[in-house]
Parts: sequence; C-alpha cells; structure tokens
Amino acid sequence: MKLWVTGADGLLGSVVRKAAALATGRREADIGDLDAIRSFASLNPGITHIVNCAAFSLVDLAETNRDEAFRTNALGPENLGILAAEIGARIVHISTDYVFPGTLHRPLKEDDPVEPCSHYGFTKLEGERRLLKVNPKACIIRTSWIFGQGGKNFVAKLLQMLQKPEEIRLTDDNWNLPTYAPDLSDAVLRMLEASGIYHFANRGAANKYEFGLAMREEAEAAGFSIAAKRILGVPASTFPSPAGRPVYSVFDVSKIERELGVSIRPWREGLREFLQEAYGKIS
Ligand SMILES: NC(=O)c1ccc[n+]([C@@H]2O[C@H](COP(=O)([O-])OP(=O)(O)OC[C@H]3O[C@@H](n4cnc5c(N)ncnc54)[C@H](OP(=O)(O)O)[C@@H]3O)[C@@H](O)[C@H]2O)c1
Repeated sequence: MKLWVTGADGLLGSVVRKAAALATGRREADIGDLDAIRSFASLNPGITHIVNCAAFSLVDLAETNRDEAFRTNALGPENLGILAAEIGARIVHISTDYVFPGTLHRPLKEDDPVEPCSHYGFTKLEGERRLLKVNPKACIIRTSWIFGQGGKNFVAKLLQMLQKPEEIRLTDDNWNLPTYAPDLSDAVLRMLEASGIYHFANRGAANKYEFGLAMREEAEAAGFSIAAKRILGVPASTFPSPAGRPVYSVFDVSKIERELGVSIRPWREGLREFLQEAYGKIS
C-alpha cells in the first residue's frame, strides 16, 4: 500500500499523515490544479490510496472568496477522483455536516435531503457530487466539528480562553457532534477500500456552551489552571456571521459503525485525551 494524504498540514491531515507514505500541502500539490496533481503522481509512482483532507475550510471567508472555495472544495475532489481513476488508486474524501440545512431535529442519515445554507456547504456538496460522478468507487466521509492538536480549531482556542480571567460566552442553540481528529483519522484509515457516503463523528450531541462546561471540568482534571470567571450560554444571534450554519446537524453514525464493527466513543473521552496530551506538552 502507498497512501497519499493531501491537506497534510491541516487539523485532520496532520493526524492522517502519520500513516501515509506521501503527505502534501498546497505548495507541493494544489488539488485545484489537475495538471499539478498529475505531475505529482507521475513523480511518485505506485500510489494505491488517496485521502483528501485538503479544503477551503473557513466558512465565513468562503462567502467572499467564492471562487477559491469552489476551486478547492468542488474542483479539488473532482480532480483527485479523475487522477485516482487514471492511476488505479482508491480515494477517500472528507466532507461535512454543512451540506445539510440543519432543520430536521433528529439524527441525520447519509441519504437525508441535503440543502446547504452557506457557500462553503454548497462547494462541499458540489465536491461530493463531482467526485462520485468521475469516480463512483470513491468513499466520502462526512464529519462535523473536528478538534485536535493540529491546525486551528475552536477547542484549542477555548482552552486558551479558559486560562484567562474573563467571562466566556458560548452559543447554546446550535447542536452537532464534536469529533476528535485521531478517532476520525483511525476510521478514515479503516475505510480505504470502502465506497459510498458515510457519517462519522463522536457520540453525544452538544452545543458550544455544553461543550465549554465539560471542557472546564476536564481541563481542571487534566491539571490546567482555569481562570475563567463564568461561562454563559447565549443565542447564536449574539455573534452575527456572514455564513448561515445548520441549527441541528447531528449525525446518525450507525452505517459506519456497522461497516467498521465498532461502537464510536463519546466525544468527552476524546476531549479528555486531547487535554491530557495538551497538558503533557506544556508541563
Ligand atoms: N474542522 C471542522 O470542524 C470540520 C467539520 C466538518 C468537516 N470538515 C472537513 O474535514 C476536512 C479536514 O478539515 P480540517 O479542519 O483539517 O481543515 P484545515 O485544518 O483547514 O486543513 C485543510 C488544509 O488544506 C489545505 N489546502 C487548502 N486549499 C488547498 C489546495 N487548493 N490544495 C491543497 N491543499 C489545500 C490548507 O492549506 P492552507 O492552510 O495553506 O490553506 C490546509 O492545510 C475538510 O474536508 C473539511 O471540509 C472539517
């Protein structure tokens, strides 16, 4: 097996790359450029599997940088799907809960109706469709709210906020499933031969306020000194943003659990592990 991971410097890619023979960022292989990835593959013959972690993932910025978001999120997976078919490699691509409108207040299955409420979600949905068109054997894993040690993410930012003596306001009216990057990476690496669309996230729906309360407890238990005075739940309308976001995008993960023969652990266990590791790094 010769695995190539794209977007290898990002939050998820920086975990998946540990198992990969080839790991590239935008500079080494721009997935929006079919010629560039073809020449990368010809310089690195024998690729058997591709995991695409590259994305334009800044949801609000995608509203103004529409072409760039489309190029990476829609054309990128299509290009990689074409290349994978040409070189006879399998491809796993990562997508998002933002393809859903988030108006159904129940766990979402893979074939529930999609209708993105942001340009980011639209480009990711377009990427799914284009990839499956050019490479029907591709595997797409939709995930939500990733946290981990690499890249930029809400949880790393929240940990810094908890260590300052200020009040923290977190939204309490949007729900989804937090996903620990190493758990997602393990699942992705076990899905290299799969086809079709799957949902993966850790178990236990949460809003940011509930997550913040859990994080305060777990961070204290891990040894961090917490200075934040108070955590307050506020409506999402407190922080107006250019892009719309699904109100309730909680996945039904039973399809991937059946495929892998596992029961996915709750996000709080992943959070505990994240904090213990983060504390180990600073102490
Ligand atoms: N983070 C979440 O909460 C979340 C939730 C649901 C789904 N997802 C999906 O999960 C996947 C991984 O997300 P992530 O959070 O790990 O993203 P991330 O941290 O933003 O990493 C994405 C990486 O892709 C690179 N990239 C951007 N454009 C590229 C291009 N044209 N060619 C090659 N590389 C390019 C970025 O490089 P630069 O930094 O140079 O731009 C970055 O290193 C994405 O498909 C994302 O849509 C993420």
